[in-house]
Amino acid sequence: MPVIAVDGPAASGKGTIARALAKHFGLPHMDTGLLYRAVALNLWRWGGDPANEFEALRACDELGFDPADPELRREAVSEVASRISVYPGVRAALLKRQQQFARQEGGAVLDGRDIGTVIAPDADVKLFVTASPEVRAERRLKELESRGMNAHYRDVLADIRARDERDSTREVAPLKPAPDAIVLDTSKLGAAEAIAEALRLAEQRLASA
Ligand code: DC
Repeated sequence: MPVIAVDGPAASGKGTIARALAKHFGLPHMDTGLLYRAVALNLWRWGGDPANEFEALRACDELGFDPADPELRREAVSEVASRISVYPGVRAALLKRQQQFARQEGGAVLDGRDIGTVIAPDADVKLFVTASPEVRAERRLKELESRGMNAHYRDVLADIRARDERDSTREVAPLKPAPDAIVLDTSKLGAAEAIAEALRLAEQRLASA
């Protein structure tokens, strides 16, 4: 059964696509960003310092969390998650859980930043979902507004650019397409079109395997 890796930057649509692929193929799905967010939330709750690697590592201990916890989706948590994800120790602490999920019998879909490059380099299908920073900022703004939050386009765009920079230039497992990944640019696609294209690409890749 297939392992499907979906990587890409923030607000590219990778989560929506990964969920749709999982449903279509009847596979379990893991949003690996939630693990980094859970560490960030732990750290934030006990007032730990994201600039301190040792404290960030302690926040990885006994990592139990509820994926439905709305706190995990807060912007502040997302910011801390991006900062602590540069630490090799934090990445190592979360590695096993992700690899076990990827190796389960029957296959799986995982989405994140380094699934196709580090977590599941042998994945049957690798998609790298991307979109221009401007389009992603628009999407993030709409999502924030739909949750009743106030934000300005300029701030959201600046935040997306800063996160891209940090996620792509870190030394360990930087955000980049695996050599054998299919790049799907969703800048000009609506959600339904992006999903349809991802399904088509995945079916095609699986048929040629
Ligand atoms: O996908 P997300 O926005 O929920 O991820 C939050 C942060 O976690 C992101 O800025 C980078 C980090 N992350 C990572 O380094 N590797 C992953 N596989 C998933 C997320």
